[in-house]
Amino acid sequence: MAINQDSIIGVIGSGAMGAGIAHVAAVAGHQVVLYDTNDQALDRAKKNLTSTLQKLQEKGKITSAEDVLGRVSFADNIVEFSHCGLIIEAIIEKLEVKKSVFNEVEIVVSPDCILASNTSSLSITSIAAACRVPERVMGLHFFNPAPLMALVEVIPAIQTNPDLIPVAKELMLQWGKTPVIAKDTPGFIVNRVARPFYGEAIRIMEEGIADKATIDWAMTEIGGFKMGPFALMDYIGHDVNYVVTKTVFESFFYDPRYKPSFSQNRLLEAGWLGRKSGRGFYDYSEGAENPAPAEDTALSKEICERILVMLINEAVDALHLNVATAADLETAMTKGVNYPKGLLSWCDEWGAAKCLEKLDSLYNNYHEDRYRASCLLRKYAVENKKFV
Ligand SMILES: NC(=O)c1ccc[n+]([C@@H]2O[C@H](COP(=O)([O-])OP(=O)(O)OC[C@H]3O[C@@H](n4cnc5c(N)ncnc54)[C@H](O)[C@@H]3O)[C@@H](O)[C@H]2O)c1
Repeated sequence: MAINQDSIIGVIGSGAMGAGIAHVAAVAGHQVVLYDTNDQALDRAKKNLTSTLQKLQEKGKITSAEDVLGRVSFADNIVEFSHCGLIIEAIIEKLEVKKSVFNEVEIVVSPDCILASNTSSLSITSIAAACRVPERVMGLHFFNPAPLMALVEVIPAIQTNPDLIPVAKELMLQWGKTPVIAKDTPGFIVNRVARPFYGEAIRIMEEGIADKATIDWAMTEIGGFKMGPFALMDYIGHDVNYVVTKTVFESFFYDPRYKPSFSQNRLLEAGWLGRKSGRGFYDYSEGAENPAPAEDTALSKEICERILVMLINEAVDALHLNVATAADLETAMTKGVNYPKGLLSWCDEWGAAKCLEKLDSLYNNYHEDRYRASCLLRKYAVENKKFV
């Protein structure tokens, strides 16, 4: 199974992610078939793609929007995938629907066509298990917006032919992406390691230690993150962010480290989905006044360090459990969610002993499993070792 410049790329689902992936593949020079069961979604994707490509041409980033667009065909029939060398699925995040689409696609495509899913949180192994040839199935997890975000998590299922991994990696490099390899475990790298950014921030707010504006201020001003956790959750949308947290929590057999919060669940129940609905943690309606941060440096430092140490612990534990290499963990968090620094480097900077002391102090205070330190962090603290 090989992919080259002449390979036709099929994309299933023309929503936010599917249209973005089609854009990336077409700009990289491939013929692309973008398929959706919903005609309106296809029309919308065509309009958006046309205007985005025209803007890129105006800025001199591509030579001809017309040429790129000419390589994309918009299909409402799956039969048009028959000549594809790689299919990337980006439809609704429901396992049963994905399995049935993979089944339909397998009948149409050639025996050496690679099948990939862009799922954020479902098991690639379970999707592969629904296929007649599970060896050709893998995860290719792009980030939103796909044309702008460099990271792609390449995820082999336990059934995937190992020869496909370098092929996928090489292709992503040709597309100008930064591939990392992730084990097929819940949330892969980014959606697992990033959980405390949201969860611990909400916990701090729920306990009344600080309000959302102050926590956001702490993470941007002290931590150097581009957005604070509450602003970011509102931006992502609580329908998406809460569902990923819930799926990761359930997939980890209810490990309390990933426990979703009532505060976010209530927002979802109220229909306060964030920016897209005009209200989430913050109010986005015109003229709305949102609370100002306390701008208390000592408190903010404490908040920032608590969230950061929880993130560092996740990254160290992912390394401990061979979810990814140290280098790929650093790349994933800086390129997938734009963290100002890799979490393992951050740990090295503070010293594993300081990180462990902070976690153990949280654990001793709460006596909750949520705050248990990874045994690898303990080992590195004792041995005074560095991760990177
Ligand atoms: N949005 C993100 O930030 C993001 C990031 C990374 C990965 N993902 C994953 O990408 C996938 C798609 O997410 P999205 O945000 O683009 O969703 P979306 O709702 O914007 O688009 C999904 C599209 O799939 C189409 N569709 C649904 N069922 C179909 C079927 N059976 N056959 C063909 N088309 C079908 C819908 O008509 C819709 O156009 C999900 O698995 C999601 O978890 C999303």
